[in-house]
Amino acid sequence: MLHQLKLVSLTLAALQLVQADDLTIYQDGSLAAGWENWSWSSTIDFAATDLFLGTSSISVTSDEWAALSVKLEGTFPQYAGLRFDIAGAQPDISISFSATDTDTTSPSIALSAISKEVNADDFTSLLIDFSALPGTGAPIPEANWDRITLQAGQNGASYHLDNVVLVESIVVQPEFLSAEPLANNIVAVTTVGDVDLHSISIKLNGKSMNISNTTTYSPPDTPSKTINYLSLRSSFVAGQLIITANNFTAEHTIPTVQSGSIQQSVKHPINPHIYGVNFPTDASYIDTLGVTLSRWGGNAETAYNPFGGFTNAGADWYFENRANDNADDWIEWVHGAGSDALLTIPALDWVSKDAASYSFPESLYPEQQGFDPYNGVAGNGLFANGSYIPNDPNLAYIPWNTTAAKQWLSGLKNTPTFVAIDNEIEIARGTHHDMHFDPVSYDEERQRVIDFATVAKEAMPNVQVVAPSTCAWWFYWTSDVGLSDTAAHNNTDFLPWFLQEMAKHEKSSGRRLLDYLDIHYYFAPDTSANDAAAKALRLRATRSFWDPSYVDESWIGTSDPQNHQPNATIVQLIPRMKTLIAENYPGTKLSISEWNGMNDQDITGGLATADSLGLFGQYGLDAATYWATPDQLSPAGLAYWLFRGHGTYFGSSSVQVKLANPDPDTVGVYAATENSKLSLVILNKNPSTPISYKFSNIPSGAYFMRHFGGAAGAAKWQTTITLKGGDSLVVPPYTAVFLLQQ
Ligand SMILES: *[C@@H]1O[C@H](CO)[C@@H](O)[C@H](O)[C@H]1NC(C)=O
Ligand SMILES: *[C@@H]1O[C@H](CO)[C@@H](O)[C@H](O)[C@H]1NC(C)=O
Ligand SMILES: *[C@@H]1O[C@H](CO)[C@@H](O)[C@H](O)[C@H]1NC(C)=O
Ligand SMILES: *[C@@H]1O[C@H](CO)[C@@H](O)[C@H](O)[C@H]1NC(C)=O
Ligand SMILES: *[C@@H]1O[C@H](CO)[C@@H](O)[C@H](O)[C@H]1NC(C)=O
Ligand SMILES: *[C@@H]1O[C@H](CO)[C@@H](O)[C@H](O)[C@H]1NC(C)=O
Ligand SMILES: *[C@@H]1O[C@H](CO)[C@@H](O)[C@H](O)[C@H]1NC(C)=O
Ligand SMILES: *[C@@H]1O[C@H](CO)[C@@H](O)[C@H](O)[C@H]1NC(C)=O
Repeated sequence: MLHQLKLVSLTLAALQLVQADDLTIYQDGSLAAGWENWSWSSTIDFAATDLFLGTSSISVTSDEWAALSVKLEGTFPQYAGLRFDIAGAQPDISISFSATDTDTTSPSIALSAISKEVNADDFTSLLIDFSALPGTGAPIPEANWDRITLQAGQNGASYHLDNVVLVESIVVQPEFLSAEPLANNIVAVTTVGDVDLHSISIKLNGKSMNISNTTTYSPPDTPSKTINYLSLRSSFVAGQLIITANNFTAEHTIPTVQSGSIQQSVKHPINPHIYGVNFPTDASYIDTLGVTLSRWGGNAETAYNPFGGFTNAGADWYFENRANDNADDWIEWVHGAGSDALLTIPALDWVSKDAASYSFPESLYPEQQGFDPYNGVAGNGLFANGSYIPNDPNLAYIPWNTTAAKQWLSGLKNTPTFVAIDNEIEIARGTHHDMHFDPVSYDEERQRVIDFATVAKEAMPNVQVVAPSTCAWWFYWTSDVGLSDTAAHNNTDFLPWFLQEMAKHEKSSGRRLLDYLDIHYYFAPDTSANDAAAKALRLRATRSFWDPSYVDESWIGTSDPQNHQPNATIVQLIPRMKTLIAENYPGTKLSISEWNGMNDQDITGGLATADSLGLFGQYGLDAATYWATPDQLSPAGLAYWLFRGHGTYFGSSSVQVKLANPDPDTVGVYAATENSKLSLVILNKNPSTPISYKFSNIPSGAYFMRHFGGAAGAAKWQTTITLKGGDSLVVPPYTAVFLLQQ
């Protein structure tokens, strides 16, 4: 009820008076009455006096993934937000709320999403507004919240907290957040609160611009911010655009228009299966993002026991078994939601035997490098010196083979469109050494694919087989045994050899087993710093999907001794793989069942994701599923919504786009057609300058437009515009725009 209000300023006076109806969690000395300490694996002092406001503070030192967690004897869904003072060297913590009655947890909010600046030496006062959570801007879901958890990341965290209060109300100051030129004649103004739009004045090259109409849009799922589309009477030209309103000013240089042409007659079909993700959360997710293909895959699926409903996390989490959803039920709801399904078939010799066992109990293997912080008796399967511990697979597993697989697949009520023969089994020694201690060789991998694909096709004659789902560039060309294995196979790189072998098998058996050459692709450049240079690199890296002149900005670009093909430093992924297919097993399609945009939460990750979706259509990829499940409101999720959201989508045929001065580092333009209607996606990868493009052959008339990114933060915005002949299209910095002819 109190959730409509929003406070913008994060720099409150550190010592703020507690309002009568606020609920104090901590002020001095100890937790307030009614609050319990539910923390774990942390050293916590509730009366710390080394740094404090008032008389003391809470000092916290948490191990990896450990947390300060407090629970109320009661619930607090009625509060408007959480205010707290924090000091620390930008500690790596995330804040979430939970409701113990329904076992619900809110989205996890990274401290960095609340504030970029938290210092070790003094307190910063921060506020989480429950009507617009930091990061996405979405309201907190409805639940009987009763617990607050501040969890450290994988390297732990140290910090001080003080004056922790649930606030009863938050007062929104009306504010202009951004004003940007968009499309042919629109100034898009984002606002919070009840601003006065009449105070806006717009000048282009010193001349006042008249506004012909204004339309306003608030996204239903992030209603705290509003966008106002001010249509100007005349279209944009190059020059200085200045937008002022009260004390707000935005200034943009609209650059000289660049030209491009769109040839709708030069086209090829886009395979709709390129817009897939792994493990969509529910039917509404599939609709919102327009997910065409849903993959059941990843490391844990190697150990999936379909008869019991168990799996094992492998090296991702201390080789522990756990309960797992039923694949048949999963296919049923995925199909019901309108998405095709890609099911992974385990193809090693073991699957999980129950929901609780683990492969390296401390009782049997006391000397291990690490143990599960939540379950201290399950080890990581490594000796202190880092080498693998040989174990007994029967501790966590029961045997699995093609007979079991066929029995399972034959009994499925719901038939998937695709099956994958396991997941990245070339690195099973690393991910599952508890069930596959020795490195997987060329020959072993071929044999497992042939054996399990054979029973899959016997059980489901129309199923499409994708394999070998190889993890990365290194293993595309050799095996975990090493280069001696490549040498022993006529010095043929692994994937071309695999294609040759699958072609041979078809020739001898008369039946094609491999329908899609499936690979995983993670961009190799390191963009983890996420600074300006890393963001620009992330936006360039998509060139590795196609560009014959792009030397990869990673280890691939400097050395690649195990690749026997030309241009070892130039990935050129889609054309390269298509060439290998044409040379070694024509007729095979190409899929990428794991890839991602390098940072789901950063706008540049969202733009890289959108760029990739455009490239997949343009370069004729046959299927792709994102790893893993991008949040619907994250920039990566918005890239899917841009192309496909809610049944309004980019056309089914990719049409030719030619730019006079192409610059793929900073601009992406994709065009498609369906039912004679043009659709366009334009990406501006520049952090601070708009782009302006004029395309020949764009029909005049009304266009539906949606976009995300921009100066006010990523959000899903949409409106309708009218294009006239001769108009250019302006796209603001760090923005992706989708247009669909009406
Ligand atoms: C709170 O819980 C943590 C983690 O279990 C523990 O180390 C700490 O001593 C507890 N503090 C108090 C005051 O109970
Ligand atoms: C804006 O409208 C006024 C009054 O209708 C007109 O005099 C002026 O020329 C217009 N300016 C532009 C740039 O169109
Ligand atoms: C601008 O005006 C708004 C509303 O009047 C006010 O809340 C805000 O503090 C002002 N900002 C600056 C920078 O003066
Ligand atoms: C690592 O430690 C184990 C157990 O102590 C030992 O058996 C093994 O030989 C060691 N490996 C290396 C490479 O030192
Ligand atoms: C799979 O294992 C079962 C049980 O041990 C056995 O009966 C069956 O013959 C095996 N199938 C194959 C193909 O080895
Ligand atoms: C080995 O590879 C060469 C090409 O590098 C090819 O000409 C030859 O036929 C291959 N031999 C076998 C046995 O596959
Ligand atoms: C390798 O690079 C050269 C020069 O950039 C180019 O001409 C050639 O087509 C490339 N070959 C392949 C297989 O990509
Ligand atoms: C406002 O202007 C835009 C762009 O010129 C046009 O598409 C839209 O239909 C107009 N809206 C109204 C309500 O007149």
